Amino acid sequence: MEENKDLLAQVDTTKLPAHVAIIMDGNGRWAQMRGEHRVFGHQNGVDSVRETAEAAAELGIRYLTLYAFSTENWNRPKEEVNALMHLLVITINNEIKTLNENNIRLRAMGNLHCLDKKVKEELNEALDKTSQNTRMDLILALSYSGRWEIVEAAKSIAALVKDGKLKEEKINEKLFASYLNLPEIPDPELLIRTSGEYRISNFLMWQTAYTELYFTPKLWPDFRKNDLYEAIVDYQQRERRFGKTSEQIIQFKG
Ligand code: FPP
Repeated sequence: MEENKDLLAQVDTTKLPAHVAIIMDGNGRWAQMRGEHRVFGHQNGVDSVRETAEAAAELGIRYLTLYAFSTENWNRPKEEVNALMHLLVITINNEIKTLNENNIRLRAMGNLHCLDKKVKEELNEALDKTSQNTRMDLILALSYSGRWEIVEAAKSIAALVKDGKLKEEKINEKLFASYLNLPEIPDPELLIRTSGEYRISNFLMWQTAYTELYFTPKLWPDFRKNDLYEAIVDYQQRERRFGKTSEQIIQFKG
């Protein structure tokens, strides 16, 4: 598509975010607009996952984190939860070969113990089989919530203090962050949320402290490469100040 090329040409590949995170929202509405069951939306959402991961890897983005299943999603009707779990198993299984061909490492964060046995098995196999890949990390947040992750970190730290293995005065932001899931991965510079909702919904609560937020009305199953390029171009036009003044940033750059 010509339009595709125009947007792609606008992306400055020397100033890419290293880490992009996405809240994939709107699958249910997309399906309902077509008179279909919500699960149909999730099934079509998989095509968007594939396209977005491909586009991110092609651009040179190092980490892509997708909010695939939140802690709160367990409260959905049982048949939808089951269908989502089934879809995860099938998708992960189908994609291992492509992930390896494209040198993409699959990773996962969240309360993975809660996942169904079959999902855990498929997931562990895919994590293992792609563990040597180095081009991009595709991180699935599964049974994940930001507050859960922060509470878990607090519990681990509290246990160390209680056992006399850590001194309270040693606790600072750096140490705390090291007890979060996948601590070696840098915070996302850009968070995208689809479907016109303006919320973080308990995603990466700690890691998004300084993240640029980008909201699009597109429903997730309609999200394509072009939409990722558009979000990145928008991000690249912003000035990231991290609490400093505009003048300080310009001085620093100059
Ligand atoms: C939100 O839409 C989407 C989800 C809760 C699940 C996302 C899952 C997929 C895209 C499929 C599998 C993913 C992978 C990584 C293999 P919603 O149901 O909240 O939509 P609504 O807001 O319109 O109801």
